[in-house]
Amino acid sequence: MKICLFNHPICIISLANKIFMLEQTLNKNLYDHPKYYDWAICSFRDVKKEVDFIRECINRFSRIEVKNVIELACGPAPNAEKFTASDFQYHGIDISPAMIDYCIQKYASLKDKVHLIRGNMLDFKVDNLIGKADLVLIMCGSFFPKNQKDIIKNLDSVALHLRKGGLYILDSCIVKDYGESEPVEYSLEVNNTPLFVRLKLNIIDQKEHLIEYILNVQAMEKDKILCFKSSDTFMEITFQDLDNIIRTHPQFELCGFFNDFSVDDPFDKKREFTRPLTIMRRI
Ligand SMILES: C[S@@+](CC[C@H](N)C(=O)[O-])C[C@H]1O[C@@H](n2cnc3c(N)ncnc32)[C@H](O)[C@@H]1O
Repeated sequence: MKICLFNHPICIISLANKIFMLEQTLNKNLYDHPKYYDWAICSFRDVKKEVDFIRECINRFSRIEVKNVIELACGPAPNAEKFTASDFQYHGIDISPAMIDYCIQKYASLKDKVHLIRGNMLDFKVDNLIGKADLVLIMCGSFFPKNQKDIIKNLDSVALHLRKGGLYILDSCIVKDYGESEPVEYSLEVNNTPLFVRLKLNIIDQKEHLIEYILNVQAMEKDKILCFKSSDTFMEITFQDLDNIIRTHPQFELCGFFNDFSVDDPFDKKREFTRPLTIMRRI
């Protein structure tokens, strides 16, 4: 039991800190150190399940053939390779220059199929993709509008790039109820580096439903504990908020809300959900 506990990355990190007085760095911006974000958050993602679901959505709901896929706030683009295996051209857009540089290196061998672009998901214009994208995605709740106007600006930008009949899919971008949640903590080891991860949501403005999503990552590297933090402030969106916005937007129609990467598991406001997927189509 002791050995098991000691081997646990969180214990290794805290014990090593006490026994060896390891130097602990001040919090650095996690998004400026994409390798650690990738290891801590993406290394265990079931990207096959995600891409299989997306392909099933295309089969059922898309009215066009898919060639060009845009992922907004792509981060380290963990599923880009799976998309290229389906013969799609992948275009990742992210606001962080460090994330873009990291992905360019990560996908150097796929540079004809994986394209990385720096841009703001709330208001973007990529000249060579206007009217040419066949599918647009946001994965893992990476949608950061501050208010309803931002959501509409995002839909307008997506509509400018997406061909009629193409899908816009949002993964985990809605909540059941507004408010704070318990922190989530876990530890793992990637490439012999023990990592400890903490995710927390704090309310910033209750009336405006503004929330801060804080991600702390500690990595034990040789004689140092590296500490990273990211913080994203955004408006929480409920099922009803998004339903109303899509129904009143002139360039989109709602295909449905689905739970946990299953097109056979639709939900409405009466039902609980674990991982909500929103699917809309460009009209
Ligand atoms: C939590 S990470 C998620 C990355 C990725 N979606 C995933 O599934 O792993 C959030 C990403 O959003 C990016 N980001 C934050 N605000 C953005 C914005 N306004 N426009 C584009 N990207 C943004 C950050 O740089 C970061 O790479």
